[in-house]
Amino acid sequence: MTSQLSSGRILVTGGSGQVGEALIRVLASVGDVFAPGRDELDLTDADSIRRVMREVGPRWVVNAAAYTAVDKAESEPELAFAINAMAPAVFAAETAKIGAVVVHFSTDYVFDGSKVTAYVESDPIGPLNVYGRSKLAGEVALSAGEAAHFVFRTSWVYGATGKNFVRSMLKFAREQEHLRIVSDQHGTPTWSFELAKMTAHVIGQIERVAAQNGRSLSEVALPLNGIYHASGGGATTWYGLAVQAIAEVQQLEPRARLATVEAISTAEYPTPAKRPMNSLLDCTKLEQMFGWRMPEWQESVARVVGELAG
Ligand SMILES: NC(=O)c1ccc[n+]([C@@H]2O[C@H](COP(=O)([O-])OP(=O)(O)OC[C@H]3O[C@@H](n4cnc5c(N)ncnc54)[C@H](OP(=O)(O)O)[C@@H]3O)[C@@H](O)[C@H]2O)c1
Repeated sequence: MTSQLSSGRILVTGGSGQVGEALIRVLASVGDVFAPGRDELDLTDADSIRRVMREVGPRWVVNAAAYTAVDKAESEPELAFAINAMAPAVFAAETAKIGAVVVHFSTDYVFDGSKVTAYVESDPIGPLNVYGRSKLAGEVALSAGEAAHFVFRTSWVYGATGKNFVRSMLKFAREQEHLRIVSDQHGTPTWSFELAKMTAHVIGQIERVAAQNGRSLSEVALPLNGIYHASGGGATTWYGLAVQAIAEVQQLEPRARLATVEAISTAEYPTPAKRPMNSLLDCTKLEQMFGWRMPEWQESVARVVGELAG
């Protein structure tokens, strides 16, 4: 575990994942981060969760671990539900006992994609695949529990580390001559680092209010808790994201031979799991409640490509 004992203990799960890795770095500014690996904390095992909760005694649990293999989940629903639904329910029960707060990440895939404009938090949900249903069950478990909780629904996460679309595109663009990318699914890419910064901001703000007013953490957090949409700014398609990322590399490396990109339809790229055609998230609530807005997606893609190419 990454650890230093102090009062502001933050238990981060999924530290080897894209979001968890960024959280470990960024949350060090607001507390003492404990980030057990899967060998110490296995989210399919409720007893393992309870044991680590007892050992760490956190003020905050930031649950970035998840079953994220969207297509594979279609054939492994039990495992997806154990990690994405049972584990958040156990965290909710355990944190409620000690007055801690849970931060959890959910997904744009809780929606069916039939809305024409961006989704707000109160829009009807309707997941199209097992992954979306398992993540929705995690949200429901937290809402039904007594613990103060913040569920950040995010979308199309990428970063300089981990398995993600932007890294795959940069690799394929160097290896192949021509890429065919889906251009009729609409959403917003979210940089894992921006998600981590937003999380630190929310934790820091709640801790400050609690300290300034001599109130308990849950007293301050409960009136604000619930679901928040938290994605990058703007909108694009997978095709738009691939084109932008490859153009950034080309600008940095004018002599590089990179693949051309062709726009195709979802029907031309069948996958085991169905995806929403529109999963844009309206992040106004996050801005109004916490004064936080993520940069436009193009700006963040440029930063990440710069990091990867440099
Ligand atoms: N990626 C996206 O595009 C996207 C979009 C919307 C929402 N989200 C949500 O954002 C959050 C973070 O996603 P991410 O992209 O950072 O995921 P990720 O890179 O796939 O990382 C998943 C993490 O979960 C851990 N994990 C999986 N099963 C576990 C288990 N049984 N016990 C303990 N740890 C386990 C993994 O550990 P190992 O390394 O040991 O496997 C890894 O650290 C998740 O809640 C995800 O649903 C992601």
